[in-house]
Amino acid sequence: MSSPAWIIQKKRDGKELSHTEITDFIQGVTDGRVADYQATAFLMAVYFRGMTLEETVALTEAMLLSGERYDLTKVTGIKVDKHSTGGVGDKVSLILAPLAAACGLKVPMMSGRGLGHSGGTVDKLESIPGFDIQLSQEKFIQTLSSVGCAMTSQTSKICPADKKLYALRDVTATVECIPLIAASILSKKIAEGSQALVLDVKVGNGAFMKSRKQAKTLAKTLIQVAKIMGLPARALLTNMNQPLGYAAGNAIEVKESIEILRNQKQSELCSADLKELTIQLCAQMLEVGKVTKNLTEGRKLAHSRLADGSAWRVFENLVRAQSGNLAAIQDPAKIPLAPQKKIWTSKKSGYIVKMQTESIGRILIELGGGRKIASDSIDPGVGLAFHHKLGSRIRAGEPLVTLYARENTNLDPVLDQLSQAIEISPAKKPVPKLIFEQIKG
Ligand code: URA
Repeated sequence: MSSPAWIIQKKRDGKELSHTEITDFIQGVTDGRVADYQATAFLMAVYFRGMTLEETVALTEAMLLSGERYDLTKVTGIKVDKHSTGGVGDKVSLILAPLAAACGLKVPMMSGRGLGHSGGTVDKLESIPGFDIQLSQEKFIQTLSSVGCAMTSQTSKICPADKKLYALRDVTATVECIPLIAASILSKKIAEGSQALVLDVKVGNGAFMKSRKQAKTLAKTLIQVAKIMGLPARALLTNMNQPLGYAAGNAIEVKESIEILRNQKQSELCSADLKELTIQLCAQMLEVGKVTKNLTEGRKLAHSRLADGSAWRVFENLVRAQSGNLAAIQDPAKIPLAPQKKIWTSKKSGYIVKMQTESIGRILIELGGGRKIASDSIDPGVGLAFHHKLGSRIRAGEPLVTLYARENTNLDPVLDQLSQAIEISPAKKPVPKLIFEQIKG
């Protein structure tokens, strides 16, 4: 193997790495010959210098080959998955996996933990008492066959290189990087055995890609690399200029997902964007998986499977199969939130014109809902519930956000940060669309 320092130096100086150099380095990350500080230096060099398409493919391949690849050929049905590039309040997977399964697809879903300011599906699922997110290959396949979907994190055998690099990126400001995101997502998705992939590429102030242009480049890179690796993929570019749905935080997002799966109406909290995006992504999965002829039929099928309770029943089966506490999801009051509840009200009247979504994600981390260093554990009960969304008209004194924090948390600085993150103005501004565009391979 070339010396790790030499490979880092070559990338630091903006040169293109060969397939062998990338493979060697990633093997070293996996077997421990490359130290964490060298891996981090490599990530930072890639962050600043980028990678060519060939390098990104080599990185994806090396991460994939660092572990096992699931063979789902014995599972009947079309296997289609969805992956989001990360945002705040993005709990779509929790609703979408059972919904798409209820519509006739098989959904093998391998997800990640929180990354940077964004939340992770695996952390959310862990707030369901007992829910096992470390499925063996055998258990993953068995659950997928019997339930229609299975949700797991990477075991130490699946893309261990991504597992290591992901945890390092989370705490070293090396997340917002197209080749690193592409290799991380695609290595997992190819390893899990999906036949097709729908990508939710987030764009906006709470996404890793802040501009439409960057998000489009990420989407195209993901689709191109996936194609080269034999995985058909398509993407939606979607709005992340405000938290998705009303909840941000692990347990509270599970509760919001359950409300949608059970078709419960929320009186004052707003989940409409979350439900709409889930339906649209489901329609994409159904079209790509040829369950429906087109998106219109797919949307119709998804709406009906949500409304008739089939998606909820699949979710119950999933929780049962993955050893989660069924009583807790049937009565979400049994999934505890942190005890210090504070309703934060608006000081002004006017319209919500801006939500600094990344700052909101960081507030959640401050409360304990995310990691500052790799060994941090997550507090599932802390969270935020938004009473209003972008474009809402607010009167002074009305509730804006309910916070759930631990008893000993001093909320004064948190409220100060929140007041800077949510901008209220006398003049209304246009609200960005939920879905900007579709990008096909
Ligand atoms: N999701 C992943 O799995 N990896 C990333 O880098 C970003 C989102």
